[in-house]
Amino acid sequence: MTGARIAVFGAGYVGLTTAACFARLGHDVVCSDVDETKVTTLSRGEVSLHEPGLTTLVEQGLGQGRLRFVLGLPTELSEVDFVFLAVPTPTGPDGAADLSAVEAVLSQIHDVLSDECVVVIKSTVPVGTTRRVQRMIGCPVVSNPEFLREGHAVEDFTHPQRIVVGSEDKDAARRVLALYADDTASAVVSDSASAELVKYASNCFLAMKLSYVNALAELCEEVDANIEDVTEGMSLDERIGSSFLAPGPGWGGSCLPKDTKALLATATAARVDFPLLDATIGTNHRQPHRVMRKVRDAVGGSVRDVRIGLLGLTFKAGTDDLRDSPALAVAGLLAAEGAVLTGYDPCVPVGSEVGPLHVVGTARDAVQHADVVVVLTEWQEFAELDWTCLGDGAGRPVIVDTRDVLPVDKVREAGFRLIATGKRL
Ligand code: UGA
Repeated sequence: MTGARIAVFGAGYVGLTTAACFARLGHDVVCSDVDETKVTTLSRGEVSLHEPGLTTLVEQGLGQGRLRFVLGLPTELSEVDFVFLAVPTPTGPDGAADLSAVEAVLSQIHDVLSDECVVVIKSTVPVGTTRRVQRMIGCPVVSNPEFLREGHAVEDFTHPQRIVVGSEDKDAARRVLALYADDTASAVVSDSASAELVKYASNCFLAMKLSYVNALAELCEEVDANIEDVTEGMSLDERIGSSFLAPGPGWGGSCLPKDTKALLATATAARVDFPLLDATIGTNHRQPHRVMRKVRDAVGGSVRDVRIGLLGLTFKAGTDDLRDSPALAVAGLLAAEGAVLTGYDPCVPVGSEVGPLHVVGTARDAVQHADVVVVLTEWQEFAELDWTCLGDGAGRPVIVDTRDVLPVDKVREAGFRLIATGKRL
C-alpha cells in the first residue's frame, strides 16, 4: 500500500527514521516535534543525528513533497489515516517508563482525529498502555514497537527482521502492517499487550546476554581462560548464535538501561518475582567499577593526578549518542578519585562539554601524554592506529582495552603493556 497520509509525532532517531522511510515508501508524511530549532533545521534538510542514510532520505522526502516538518499540531491532522507516536518514554522516578510525552500528544490530538484514523504507538510503553489508550479515544489503537539500532536505523527500517503489530482491532493492525510494503520480514499480529511485551522482552534478553558474557569475561580472567575462544565455541551452537557476545565496559544507551528498569517495574507491579532482571542490571552496574579496578591495578594504586586518555566516549561505536554511556560512568569514577582526564571520540567534537573530560580532536592527542589509555568503545579507527608512533618520551602508557578491539600483537610489539578483557596476556 502506498499513498497513506501519516502524521508522526517526535523527530528523534525513531520518529525521524520512521517518517523519512515511510515517505520513501510513497506515503505522504508530516512529522511534528516540540523543538522549534529541530523543526527549522530539518525543514532545511539538515539532520543533526549520526544515522547513515538519513540525511539523503530527508532531503529526498522534502524535495518530492512527501515529507514536511511542523512545530506542534499539523493543520491536516483531521485528515490523516495514521498517527504514529514516537515520543520519548524515559525512566520515571520509580523505574517505570514516564508516559507524560505520550499523554501530552494524546490529549492534544484525540478530539481532532477522524474515527477511521489509526493511532499507532511506536514509543516503548508499559504493557497495557495500548489498551488503556484504546479506552480513552474513539479510533483504533495499535502497538507497533520499533527494533531500530542507533547508527543502523535506516538499514533496520528498510530491511526489518520482523514487524510486530498488536491490537484488539486486528483489521487496524493489518492496515498498519500493510504500510511497510515488505513481504520479506516476518510479521507478528497479536493482541496489544503481547506486542508491547515483545519489545521489552527483546531488549532485556539482549541485556541479559551481555551481562552474562561480561560476567563470563571476569571469570575467564580469574581462571586464565580466553573469552574469545569461549564465545567462539558457544556461538557455534545455533541456538546461542554469535551476536551480542562481545564483552565490554557494560551496556548503555537510551534503550537497554531504561527498558530493563521498566520491565522490572512492570513485573514488580504485577507481583511477579524476576530475579534474572535484577541480576542483569546489577551485573551491569558493576562493570565501570571493574574497569576502574583494572586502571588502579595498572598504576599500582591510586589514580590521583594520573593522566588518563579515554578512547571512545559514546555508548557504542557508530553513534554520537552519549546517553547512559558506560564510558562516561568510567570517566566519572576516575575523576572522583582525582585522575586527569582527556578523551577522544570520532563523533564527539573537540572542545565539547562532556562531564569531567577535556575532549581532544584526535586519538593521538588523547594517547600522546597519557600514563594510562582506556579504550571504551569499539571504533575500528582505534584498531588501525599506528601504535609504533605513539607515547611520549616519558614512556609508553599502559593500555586497558575494555572492548578487546586493539590488535594485541601489534600493540605489544610497539612496546605497550596491554591489559585486555576476558583474557590474561
Ligand atoms: C537496542 C536494540 O539492540 C535494538 O534492537 C532496539 O531497537 C533499540 O535498543 C531500541 O530499543 O530502540 P541500541 O540501543 O541502538 O539498540 O544499542 P545496541 O546495539 O543494542 O547496544 C547496546 C549496548 O550494548 C551498547 O552499550 C553496546 O556497546 C553494548 N554491546 C552490544 C556490547 O557491549 N557487546 C555486544 O556484543 C553488543
